[in-house]
Amino acid sequence: MSGPNTNYDPVQVAALDEAAIAEMVDQAVTAIRAADSIAGLKQARLDHLGDRSPIALANREIGALPPEARRVAGQRIGQARGRITEVFREREAEVTAAELEATLRAERLDMTLPVELHPQGAVHPVTALIDQLNDVFTAMGWEVAEGPELEGEWLNFDALNIGPDHPSRGTTDTLFVDPIDHGLVMRTHTSPVQIRALLNRDLPVYVVCPGRTYRADEYDPTHLPVFHQIEGLCVDKGITMAHLKGTLDHFARELFGDVRTRLRPHYFPFTEPSAEMDLECFVCRGESVGNPDRPCRTCRSEGWIEWGGCGVVNPRVLAAVGIDADVYSGFAFGMGIERTLMFRNGAEDMREMVEGDVRYSRTLRGGAR
Ligand code: DAH
Repeated sequence: MSGPNTNYDPVQVAALDEAAIAEMVDQAVTAIRAADSIAGLKQARLDHLGDRSPIALANREIGALPPEARRVAGQRIGQARGRITEVFREREAEVTAAELEATLRAERLDMTLPVELHPQGAVHPVTALIDQLNDVFTAMGWEVAEGPELEGEWLNFDALNIGPDHPSRGTTDTLFVDPIDHGLVMRTHTSPVQIRALLNRDLPVYVVCPGRTYRADEYDPTHLPVFHQIEGLCVDKGITMAHLKGTLDHFARELFGDVRTRLRPHYFPFTEPSAEMDLECFVCRGESVGNPDRPCRTCRSEGWIEWGGCGVVNPRVLAAVGIDADVYSGFAFGMGIERTLMFRNGAEDMREMVEGDVRYSRTLRGGAR
């Protein structure tokens, strides 16, 4: 067995030979510069800097050298690695930039090309008007209440003081749901939501109740079997007809500008006294009345437009929900939404409102005040 070779020269170990290492560097540089993709570069790095690369293998030989030779060999390997890494980084920057450039080119979009847009819908005028009406009342601190469209007869009629023999309770006016003895109807107005609000909420109550209603009506220019109403109800201490008048005047002005209103005596079972509210025609301001030269389509030259019903809540309604009518009083009102839209926007035929033509929705919205 030979003893340690004290005169060991790193030059004598082939892998650590200066020329051999220079050759490794040359090959690595050539391979790296030849790589023209990130994947190719990765492979070149693995081949020339990885664990099994010639440089790594040469590095392992260092351990076999005598201590005094290790430093030089180590430096040589270190410099070689440094050089290869440097060339790798340069090439990596070039290849990355080139790949990005190629991707950008390949995915280039011409933003000026005309495209076919999907036609957009429009908010239905009934929905838009309901939103607007809700806004008027929520701005005064009122709440919006809702109820079901399939309603109990007691809530739709009895609790509202509409007795069993009232003509509106017949099948010619009301849509009953089978089996008839279950007492369920498609609500004929939004007034049952008044009852629900009084049963479910703490007093005082200030609510508006917009919603869909159903009647066994004809389908013609001024009637729809399915239509919308907005109901208003306030029950508090000391409420009088004056509060009703003030509230409805404000409501009318918010929607139609500076118009005059009038209350005409009327009858509703759930209010006492009851009235119908008219608006002075906001188009002709009454000037078409008796003036055939200036007919007005909006009010049919009557000067006034019937807007809705209202009144002081009948104490019998309060009693039906267990409220002491000696302490509390209130007012209520109800308007048809489609009817309001008709005269507000000059719509001639209600049927167009349910035909679902988006162009109609756009024009009617566009024509809104
Ligand atoms: N419910 C009535 C209808 O459908 C409208 C109405 C009138 C509602 C007077 C009210 C009211 O709250 O006080 O014709």
